[in-house]
Amino acid sequence: MLTHEKIETSNTLMIILTTLVVSVGGLLEIVPLFFQKSTTTPLNELVKPYEPLRLAGRDIYIREGCYNCHSQMIRPFRAETERYGHYSVAGEYVYDHPFQWGSKRTGPDLHRVGGRYSDQWHKIHLLNPRDVVPESNMPAYKWLDRPLKDTAIGAKMSALRKVGVPYTDQEIADAPKALEGKTEVEAVVAYLQGMGLALKQSR
Ligand code: HEC
Repeated sequence: MLTHEKIETSNTLMIILTTLVVSVGGLLEIVPLFFQKSTTTPLNELVKPYEPLRLAGRDIYIREGCYNCHSQMIRPFRAETERYGHYSVAGEYVYDHPFQWGSKRTGPDLHRVGGRYSDQWHKIHLLNPRDVVPESNMPAYKWLDRPLKDTAIGAKMSALRKVGVPYTDQEIADAPKALEGKTEVEAVVAYLQGMGLALKQSR
């Protein structure tokens, strides 16, 4: 007989049974999300795969570790929606692989930053935040003002297609051309300016 006493005094049994219970509970919560329409299909027709420049910008965002200070996930609380706008919904992220939700906010949430400032503001801010926000403690990313060299853009799009982002062969073939003559900071700004618009524009 498996009595409480037996389980609670045996490390091995305790570990095995705890793992079992946590796994079953976790799977029951997580697995259905893979099949729920609201989490797997785009929110609306405005949620589109990232065009090459924005995709390149997103990769720079990841490379520079922006997610260490910025979340991209507005929670459904009044304090957040008043400040950042409508709370985030799953259907906005279907083309994000991986998500940039983040878990720390040294700076503000960026999920709906698209359209909030001009391209020029973003450029100045990224190269030296203090030029537009004197009290800012965000690092200056001066080196971003250099030519964008993303030779792997086509390969990245093909890889994303494997996980369900519907890029066409033509879009992949044309991608390198779209990046010609661009700088890294332009790519990051393009990425930021597209953020969170799909839901804003549909309302
Ligand atoms: C060390 C923490 C830190 C890092 C890393 C960081 N930021 Fe920031 N960011 C901040 C802080 C603090 C603010 C608020 C002050 C300001 O506007 O500069 C901010 C503000 C911003 C804003 C303005 C948001 C708004 O709604 O006003 C944008 C856009 C932004 N950051 C983008 C970026 C990008 C892109 C990167 C990566 C290249 C980055 N940040 C990296 C701390 C950080």
